[in-house]
Amino acid sequence: MMILIAEFFVVILKVLWAFVTAGFRWVVRPKEKSVAGQVCVITGAGSGLGRLFAKEFARRRAILVLWDINSQSNEETAEMVRQIYHELDTPITKDGPVGGVEEVPPFQPQVYTYVCDVGKREHVYATADKVRRDVGNVDILINNAGRGLRTPPPGVP
Ligand SMILES: NC(=O)c1ccc[n+]([C@@H]2O[C@H](COP(=O)([O-])OP(=O)(O)OC[C@H]3O[C@@H](n4cnc5c(N)ncnc54)[C@H](O)[C@@H]3O)[C@@H](O)[C@H]2O)c1
Repeated sequence: MMILIAEFFVVILKVLWAFVTAGFRWVVRPKEKSVAGQVCVITGAGSGLGRLFAKEFARRRAILVLWDINSQSNEETAEMVRQIYHELDTPITKDGPVGGVEEVPPFQPQVYTYVCDVGKREHVYATADKVRRDVGNVDILINNAGRGLRTPPPGVP
């Protein structure tokens, strides 16, 4: 019986501690990792979450490589990314290794688009080769493509 009561208090204390640490992190936000100038591949970038990811990474000055099976919607996302790049004309800095502020080279906004069906292995390898030749090494991959709320099942227009 005593063990049960002790365990109950331990659980209550752990829950309270989780609330305290969560509240602290909410007030004192952890430092964001900079993705400025990093090459970021986003699959399924033509709509929904992929498009939102692309816009967020553009605001953070990443170099974007957008893949989608649908060329038209992918180009629309690229246009939105270019618009965001266009609005970002302030010089950039990023946090240095010891908390100082370090100047980084001027940002060269770049967005690349590729039509790729991620369901086809050969297509993925061929597109990855093209990206390596056109852009270089990839730093971040957001493998988001799939059937979401807006992608109809095969055969359905
Ligand atoms: N939206 C949600 O609530 C939700 C919830 C859980 C999981 N997801 C997953 O998140 C991902 C994105 O969801 P969403 O709602 O943004 O979807 P969405 O339908 O809005 O967008 C999916 C995008 O992926 C592309 N795509 C589909 N099949 C592809 C393929 N074989 N190759 C390349 N591109 C392809 C589509 O053209 C489209 O642009 C999906 O994988 C989905 O399963 C979404």
